Amino acid sequence: MKSAISFALLAAATVHGAVHNSTVSATSVADKFPIINFMGPTIEGASVNRKGELFAVNKTHFLSLKSGTSDPKNPKLTGPGDKTSHFASSRFTRTQDVLIGDAVGHSIWQQDYNSSDLKRRWNGRFARRAYTPFLINDKLLQPNDFTINGAETYLYMSGMNYTATTVAGEHGDVWYYNIKTGAYKQVPKEVMRGAGIHRCNGIDLSPDDKYLYVTSAQNINDVVTSTKVYKFVIDPATGEPKNPTTEVDLYQVLSNAGVKARERGMDPDGMRMDVEGNLFITLNAIPGVLRWNTKAPGDGTYIPLTTVFAPSNLEFGGEDGKTLYIVGRCQGLEKACVDAYKHDKPGRAITNLRGTTPPKTNSNTGTGSGNSGNSTSPGTEYPNVSNPPNTGSGSPTDAEKEMMRMKLLEWIKIIEKYIATWLKDGNPVPN
Ligand SMILES: *[C@@H]1O[C@H](CO)[C@@H](O)[C@H](O)[C@H]1NC(C)=O
Ligand SMILES: *[C@@H]1O[C@H](CO)[C@@H](O)[C@H](O)[C@H]1NC(C)=O
Ligand SMILES: *[C@@H]1O[C@H](CO)[C@@H](O)[C@H](O)[C@H]1NC(C)=O
Ligand SMILES: *[C@@H]1O[C@H](CO)[C@@H](O)[C@H](O)[C@H]1NC(C)=O
Ligand SMILES: *[C@@H]1O[C@H](CO)[C@@H](O)[C@H](O)[C@H]1NC(C)=O
Ligand SMILES: *[C@@H]1O[C@H](CO)[C@@H](O)[C@H](O)[C@H]1NC(C)=O
Repeated sequence: MKSAISFALLAAATVHGAVHNSTVSATSVADKFPIINFMGPTIEGASVNRKGELFAVNKTHFLSLKSGTSDPKNPKLTGPGDKTSHFASSRFTRTQDVLIGDAVGHSIWQQDYNSSDLKRRWNGRFARRAYTPFLINDKLLQPNDFTINGAETYLYMSGMNYTATTVAGEHGDVWYYNIKTGAYKQVPKEVMRGAGIHRCNGIDLSPDDKYLYVTSAQNINDVVTSTKVYKFVIDPATGEPKNPTTEVDLYQVLSNAGVKARERGMDPDGMRMDVEGNLFITLNAIPGVLRWNTKAPGDGTYIPLTTVFAPSNLEFGGEDGKTLYIVGRCQGLEKACVDAYKHDKPGRAITNLRGTTPPKTNSNTGTGSGNSGNSTSPGTEYPNVSNPPNTGSGSPTDAEKEMMRMKLLEWIKIIEKYIATWLKDGNPVPN
């Protein structure tokens, strides 16, 4: 009874959105990302590197989806593919290389993308796992997806225990991890229960890191009965997500827009934020993505997808960081598809990735975090790059011209070397 009452109250408090249909659909970019054809139905965990190139995971692999940059037969990261591992998420970072979430391994792998191996941190402590991870915690339900704050000091993880009938606070969890100290904390079950949060999946922070958004889906007898996005307030002192409130009732706002989400058992999956506070939510089981303006609740757009029939994840990339790539299963649910949608703002993740905060700090060697080894820090130690040589004006002699040309070439070499170092250390990308 009690839970029925609080459920009714929450529903009443929910904002009624005026979601409108986008006149522009996301269209296939499979021609640009041919690796998509090998990824299969477990495709998820979209991420982009600093260049804006698209990567994704499936159960067993983490790969660049771009032609030529990755060999599907010889991927850099391969999971055991057994019952102990299922890759579900990935993210490039400035300071922690590439992180790959393993929903069954209760872990996050860390990979220096250009090295042959994963970093090994816990020597043999978890022998049953194929790799030693960046983070491991058997108390996590999964993680399903994760996000990182701008300073790359806190990692937030979501998870679920898919059961026929879910209980708020029991079958979904949110954890935060202090990268510097290696401390984990779970958002208390009572907090989750009090807010009515069930299975958690999509997760992302606001551009200013003040709020955390997490999806919730409730099951009753194997039917998804309610899907929402919750908003937590981040305590800036501790990083703790607090006071969750309903940001959007997805079934309600989509129904207002004529999209039959409840009827089709839509189960929200990955979410990504742009730099202006627009949250993009994959509506798994229907071929669509919802843009939801967290700064003006009620302002939303339903974006239809062309080839992705059941979207699982998405990320902003491309040269300008404004192309939203959506991955998921194609019609028939057996193959992987990728669509792209041109937005007018860049994504939060790629903007942070390209940001000017120092990459690769060697700040910590605490429990299972921080970088070992000495890497150069292009963010803190800028090389002494000279100004371009003055090639003068007037009418130089041929010998003077040749001298200027040589000086200029010399200068270009220095700059190129600098850029190469900067890319290598700040942008863990194959070539
Ligand atoms: C994941 O992708 C790789 C390369 O595209 C493929 O070889 C592998 O079979 C896929 N794994 C699954 C579980 O579909
Ligand atoms: C998942 O939920 C089921 C049903 O409530 C329960 O029996 C099981 O212990 C849960 N698993 C975890 C890891 O919490
Ligand atoms: C919006 O698009 C959905 C999916 O294509 C469709 O079912 C719905 O009728 C459209 N709503 C309006 C108001 O056009
Ligand atoms: C890092 O630098 C210190 C001091 O220069 C040196 O003693 C140490 O061996 C270096 N560590 C690695 C892994 O290169
Ligand atoms: C940087 O380079 C300039 C020109 O070569 C030189 O005058 C200056 O002393 C250098 N500064 C440092 C800190 O090395
Ligand atoms: C990756 O390693 C290869 C071989 O050592 C090197 O040629 C290439 O420049 C490296 N790429 C980056 C981005 O560091």
